[in-house]
Amino acid sequence: MQDNFGRTIDYLRISVTDRCNFRCTYCMPEHQTFLPRTDILDYTEIALIASRFIKHGIRKIRLTGGEPLVRRDIDVLIRELGRHVQSGTLDELTLTTNGTRLSQYATVLASNGVERINVSLDSLDPSTFAEITRGGDLQQVLQGIADARSAGLKVRINMVALKDVNSHEVPAMAEYCAANGHDLAFIETMPLGDGVSGRTEQFIALEDFIAPLRQSNDFIPISHRTAGPARYFQVEPMGLRIGLITPMTHNFCGDCNRLRLGSDGKVHMCLGSEFHVDFKDAIRAGGLDAVDRLLQKALRLKPERHDFERQLEDRDLRLHRHMNATGG
Ligand code: GTP
Ligand code: 5AD
Ligand code: SF4
Repeated sequence: MQDNFGRTIDYLRISVTDRCNFRCTYCMPEHQTFLPRTDILDYTEIALIASRFIKHGIRKIRLTGGEPLVRRDIDVLIRELGRHVQSGTLDELTLTTNGTRLSQYATVLASNGVERINVSLDSLDPSTFAEITRGGDLQQVLQGIADARSAGLKVRINMVALKDVNSHEVPAMAEYCAANGHDLAFIETMPLGDGVSGRTEQFIALEDFIAPLRQSNDFIPISHRTAGPARYFQVEPMGLRIGLITPMTHNFCGDCNRLRLGSDGKVHMCLGSEFHVDFKDAIRAGGLDAVDRLLQKALRLKPERHDFERQLEDRDLRLHRHMNATGG
């Protein structure tokens, strides 16, 4: 599948719920309203859309949220999508999680074709962690990560860069990841949604965020590809693979290969734009041809790039959608 700019689209992110058992300060306001359950696609509908997209060229699916593992009976969908990996019609099934339910689901994931997962972990200090997540239990997440590794899953830690909140923890996080054999991705905060505290003051460019690591290590660019937006480096002598995700300071939209299916059936073609195509009515009417037509429309309308810079300058252009709605 190609979009209007000649980019090959083979990566589908599926947000299975906008709900989350955390309320990370950079992601959503403390009091967030969630979609009513009747507006949410059921697993049969999600699986049907996914198989249609796979038929047209999707090779990688990532489940996201909110927090994907808080949706009831999520193992049903994991099993259903895992079949595509087993039959070879999908190269990769994976997920991004806050780690709180990993102890419960690690084995289900590993036995249904999932090989690696990304876990959000912004601090190793219990009180900073609780502050960022508004009440999260660090120990529960660390245990979940350990259980994921025991089940055979590879782990990449996602750390969102927050100036004066977790910037001093970069060396400690890198050491934790090196010691445990996890990859580590640093992420620049993106301006999505209103009512999120500290967005502007907490932004820090990744080059500045990683400066303490650069002082004592070499960053060797490597060709490791995950089909996501990270640029990878081998960090030596620490012995760690690091990914840099720099939507604000080093645009990667030219290589974009992604579509995002929301739990409400809307496909967003870019994280940084309100453009979307609604698949809910088509799938509820059982119209697979209509799903195919809507997919072609989504490809035609996929924007060339996000517009975060202009959105920061002009209040009227800001996106009202929070990150938990599209899953990043
Ligand atoms: P890998 O498959 O391991 O490469 O994962 P990934 O980086 O694609 O997924 P993950 O859910 O871990 O996302 C990490 C960060 O990248 C999150 O902050 C996402 O919002 C961000 N991200 C992923 N895709 C895009 C994109 O197309 N545009 C922008 N601006 N950010 C993205
Ligand atoms: N900017 C950048 N990354 C974000 N995430 C959530 N909100 C934002 C934001 N505003 C991250 C989460 C998770 C991934 C899916 O997106 O920490 O790791
Ligand atoms: Fe939940 Fe993820 Fe948003 Fe944190 S970043 S509140 S874990 S959806």
